[in-house]
Amino acid sequence: MFSPLIAPSILSADFARLGEEVDAVLNAGADIIHFDVMDNHYVQNLSFGPMICSALRKYGVTADIDVHLMVSPVDDLIERFADAGASMISFHPEASLHVDRSLALVKDKGCKVGLALNPATPLSVLDHVLHKLDYVLVMSVNPGFGGQTFIEHSIEKIKALKSRIDKAGLNVRIEVDGGVKLDNVKAVRQAGADMFVAGSAIFNTENYQHTIKEFKRLIS
Ligand code: DX5
Ligand code: ZN
Repeated sequence: MFSPLIAPSILSADFARLGEEVDAVLNAGADIIHFDVMDNHYVQNLSFGPMICSALRKYGVTADIDVHLMVSPVDDLIERFADAGASMISFHPEASLHVDRSLALVKDKGCKVGLALNPATPLSVLDHVLHKLDYVLVMSVNPGFGGQTFIEHSIEKIKALKSRIDKAGLNVRIEVDGGVKLDNVKAVRQAGADMFVAGSAIFNTENYQHTIKEFKRLIS
């Protein structure tokens, strides 16, 4: 059983004070830092590139950086984010012409590897690669923006994924991303998730310490 991890998404952070914001959530008890990388091609929004990862490493961030690539193609940015200090890299299977090769590239670059599944993407995309993954990122919103509403059928999908991982005897984490809040995180945890991305639910609150403590209480 994996220990539950809180992964604040910097998409909702104050970018004018990004280093301080990352320090603040880590000091408040966050476990890893989630990067929502968007390219205005695979998704409509445009966020940030590898230089932000390098800058935070140079600034002194030592926590794991969990890069969620909502980009297409993926291979070049896999290499650049790995070189910039990423610890974990996930991408959407629809965004790579050769998923198995892109997965191998993440591993070859020394990062943990995950596949990010959109709400309409079936678990069957994992059929030939689940055993190669360190984690699966279940999108509980459609990718592109923070602050959206949690898609309720994600709970059933997480349960089905957890059952599949357990039946196969695999050590694969389940990360959930999108609309995760204090009022639904317990159900998400009970469904089988163990990594929780939260952007607006953390960065839009006054007291990160209190918010993250509450998240940890609910998922422990
Ligand atoms: C969607 C993004 C968001 C973000 C989380 O593309 O991946 O899910 O990280 O945003 P909140 O926690 O504000 O829904
Ligand atoms: Zn994300």
